[in-house]
Amino acid sequence: MTPAGGFPRAPIGRADRPTLAVVGATGAAGTVLLGLLSERADVWGEIRLVASERSAGRKLAVRGEEVEVLALGEEVFDGVDVAMFDVPAEVAARWAPVAAARGAVVVDNSGAFRTDPDVPLVVPEVNAHAARNRPRGIVAGPGCATLTMIVALGALHAEWALEELVVSTYQAVSESGRRGVEALRGQLAAVAGAELGVHPGDVRRAVGDTGPYAAPIALNVVPFSGTPAEDGWTTEELAVREETRRVLGLPGLRATATCVRVPVVTTHSVSVHARFESEVSVGKAHEILANAPGVVVCDDPVAGEFPTPADAVGTDPVWAGRVRRSPDDPRALELFVCGDNLRKGAALNMAQIGELVAAERAED
Ligand SMILES: NC(=O)c1ccc[n+]([C@@H]2O[C@H](COP(=O)([O-])OP(=O)(O)OC[C@H]3O[C@@H](n4cnc5c(N)ncnc54)[C@H](OP(=O)(O)O)[C@@H]3O)[C@@H](O)[C@H]2O)c1
Repeated sequence: MTPAGGFPRAPIGRADRPTLAVVGATGAAGTVLLGLLSERADVWGEIRLVASERSAGRKLAVRGEEVEVLALGEEVFDGVDVAMFDVPAEVAARWAPVAAARGAVVVDNSGAFRTDPDVPLVVPEVNAHAARNRPRGIVAGPGCATLTMIVALGALHAEWALEELVVSTYQAVSESGRRGVEALRGQLAAVAGAELGVHPGDVRRAVGDTGPYAAPIALNVVPFSGTPAEDGWTTEELAVREETRRVLGLPGLRATATCVRVPVVTTHSVSVHARFESEVSVGKAHEILANAPGVVVCDDPVAGEFPTPADAVGTDPVWAGRVRRSPDDPRALELFVCGDNLRKGAALNMAQIGELVAAERAED
């Protein structure tokens, strides 16, 4: 392999490290994952890049080396210890069991296995221990809406015991892949400079085709993320509820979510109302959050300091602020959390789970 920067990278010491396959290496989350693998402590031996037939033969940079992309097939998993899947759910549903049958531990970022009781749902800062018990050889990460808030919430839960959760999400369009980003950029161009947003339907007429969303995403918010589910909920809203219950180990948690798409390219936000078994205080919440790995507190609203997607995008931690005790309930906290949906919301969580599995091997 030819190093991209022209500097030879010695393979010495890598031979006894686990082999990693990145499946979906060319996608939005896969691209961020390759960047993270290049930045983080290098625990991997060979890194094999896999995507569809369409991308076979392309070269992508990882750890400063150009690596050729292989087409997905059974043989790409030969000798692979860990396979990170960043592909559509139907592709993961078909191929993750194939990789597991060939001896790889699969870390899946799709929704294919998140509700499977034989597949642990893991957020390393909250329930790393769960990754060890994987009857199907597959470990899943939650969706990006849950991942935006769960690290901060898990830290508060460890102190005060969560009893009830009500959240509203503000979700970025890159979660919808290239189509979402193209829709936002195209619609912003269509409305730029015009006096729109003053009459019913004027934005809708200006943007024309609304792309992957049922309403314009420029100059608007769309209170429907996911697909229709029972009783008026969306699949995304029910997923936030179920995933939070699973990761926190609270199967009976009362939890509701309203999931909203907003005109942000990347980085989700979540407004959280969390009720606990014990009384809470803002000072203690700040201390807990400041000490929680993967969380940064940004909370001086009078000075204009609070988390926003524009400031949090491209960073690894989740950003928590606007922490308040509910005026009518001494056991309830309100807070606002932002997290990059392609980093902690996807690729970073996968990289962390993969590193847990790699560390198990080092213990053997
Ligand atoms: N984007 C987010 O914010 C986010 C957050 C959390 C979880 N996720 C989940 O992560 C997964 C990937 O999302 P993404 O946004 O990165 O999608 P994406 O940009 O559309 O990328 C999809 C990737 O899957 C590959 N792929 C598609 N069909 C394939 C097939 N039949 N065989 C082999 N490879 C195939 C593509 O390869 P080609 O380039 O060759 O087509 C590409 O590498 C999805 O399950 C998504 O739900 C995404």
